[in-house]
Amino acid sequence: MNLSSLAIKVARSENLPVLPQIVSTVLRIADDPNTSAKALERVIERDPAILAKILRVANSAYYGLNHVPSIGRAIGVLGMNTVRSLVLGIAYHQAMSGRTQSQHFSKIDFWRHSLAVAVTARIMGKLKSPAKAEELYGAGMMHDVGILVMDRFCPAELDDAVNFAREQHIPLHEAEQRLYGFDHCDVGALLGEKWGLTPIMTNAIKFHHAVEKDEEHQETTAFIAVANALAHQAGFHNNAVPLKPQLDPLALMVVDLPQEQLEIIANVVAQEVAKAQEAFQIVESPRRVA
Ligand SMILES: [Fe+2]
Ligand SMILES: [Fe+2]
Repeated sequence: MNLSSLAIKVARSENLPVLPQIVSTVLRIADDPNTSAKALERVIERDPAILAKILRVANSAYYGLNHVPSIGRAIGVLGMNTVRSLVLGIAYHQAMSGRTQSQHFSKIDFWRHSLAVAVTARIMGKLKSPAKAEELYGAGMMHDVGILVMDRFCPAELDDAVNFAREQHIPLHEAEQRLYGFDHCDVGALLGEKWGLTPIMTNAIKFHHAVEKDEEHQETTAFIAVANALAHQAGFHNNAVPLKPQLDPLALMVVDLPQEQLEIIANVVAQEVAKAQEAFQIVESPRRVA
């Protein structure tokens, strides 16, 4: 399998069962400055399963709403961007319940890693540029989506890459590059283009392991690169390769957060991920909702 034949498969695939359809629609709608809360509400209401889960999670202690009965009210109270983050988190959580095609790739590890990067990126965003916090959460959640595409379209190659990374004790993207000449960042960017995601989101997916190559939206990509490293350092690995990647000096310079703040973030990541995970697990046990 080479990247161009994978690109053809992704482009030709009418229905890309990597994440529910609602994800691409919600991402596009929420990124459109001309969109209205009503449009987002209509899209979510078309998917009753996601709708019910959003209301359960929004009414959990983590999001702090109390008996909000409708998605319209939830958008009114939490805001469009937070509801977009909720849809993404729930869709990812839901996608993780399906079987993997590949033998050695763990979807549970993948989900916890994606959530950890999303939560970390959001904390960094709140400290540095609060208006971008939810966008960073979304980019953090999606950054490794290429791995899900590989699990769908070339599971044997993903298996070999995971094994090779474990044997050689190298990061997964490096194993993919050495074996195939492309990595999950290239594959994720194919999905971003197919779905019409914003260039900011697509670049974060494409360049999170090579911030220096992002000439257009380096800031967001740098946040995701640092959040990715902090998540690994906190023990949230995406493929059971227990590496602690160094923080990329360029990404650190672009993010420009003082060392003490990074240390504080690193110390709270595990706790924050546990809280977020609990909020999403509520969708599996409705009786726990007040
Ligand atoms: Fe990655
Ligand atoms: Fe990652």
